[in-house]
Amino acid sequence: MDFTGAHILSIKQFERADIERVFQVADSMEPYALRRRVTRVLEGAILGNMFFEPSTRTRVSFGAAFNLLGGEVRETTGFQSSAIAKGESLYDTARVLSGYSDVICMRHPESGSVAEFAAASRVPVVNGGDGTNEHPSQALLDLYTIRKELADKGRQVDGLRIAMIGDLKYGRTVHSLCKLLCLFQNIHVTLVSPPELAMPAELVEEMRAAGHDVQISEDLMHGIGHVDIAYATRIQEERFSSKQEADQYRGRFRLNQAIYTQYCEPNTVIMHPLPRDSRADANELDNDLNLNPNLAIFRQADNGVLVRMALFALILNVADQVDRHSREVNWYSGRR
Ligand code: CP
Repeated sequence: MDFTGAHILSIKQFERADIERVFQVADSMEPYALRRRVTRVLEGAILGNMFFEPSTRTRVSFGAAFNLLGGEVRETTGFQSSAIAKGESLYDTARVLSGYSDVICMRHPESGSVAEFAAASRVPVVNGGDGTNEHPSQALLDLYTIRKELADKGRQVDGLRIAMIGDLKYGRTVHSLCKLLCLFQNIHVTLVSPPELAMPAELVEEMRAAGHDVQISEDLMHGIGHVDIAYATRIQEERFSSKQEADQYRGRFRLNQAIYTQYCEPNTVIMHPLPRDSRADANELDNDLNLNPNLAIFRQADNGVLVRMALFALILNVADQVDRHSREVNWYSGRR
């Protein structure tokens, strides 16, 4: 694909070579993300960061990624701080805000809304999550993490064995990840969820059509038994009609160190897009896993900065200029 000026709305836009290009650029961003060097390659550019649903990682890491490339960030968070609350349409909002920005990231509770916004925007738009539909940058950082974690163990993505656990119906991160895995070969996927929160049938069919082995289970212990990656997700309470309805499922699948030790292979990597629900009635990934070296959730979140820097560099066509506009940092940067 031609990244320059492109909207990033769905994983469906990507071919396998495009993924390799994103990951190659993401690798090259490490000195900047680790604060060994600074670059001013996007000096003067403005990111419009528009988040109409709660977010910590996606919002802040998109902003940090843009800042690390030398650009500035203007944020709108929540409908109440936007003129959408006064009845302004997505079309008008897009026409106006794209006059103030060079690229826009947007999260919105309705499926398809970011594409609708992008159609009216005069600058590239990146989907930061639209309802239950997609979260493409999350899938890219998830796969980037999977690739890195497997490489450390002498493995590659083709042939991957992965369990996706939890709310597979409403979880947009796993929807995008399934689409992304269709670009690879011979993937074994175990989908662990209550039947009511199963992966949408069309995504299961898509994976099977790609030649992947897809198993469906309600049994966590069975599902995590022979996998390289155990990818847990949160019950997406905000998508249910009531908290009581979500409560029926909360805490159904809990992974802790004792279960990990008993049922997982010794090197199984634990991932989660985060936030993990750490309330007592959920506790989907127990804090007693925090010192488990195979818990990759914070490495995964860190990788979001690299991947989002890569997307900006490619969309704004500066990937080959980043180093030329760089120097060493002035400050102590001994982060652990
Ligand atoms: N993974 C993810 O989308 O996290 P946030 O909701 O905090 O952005």
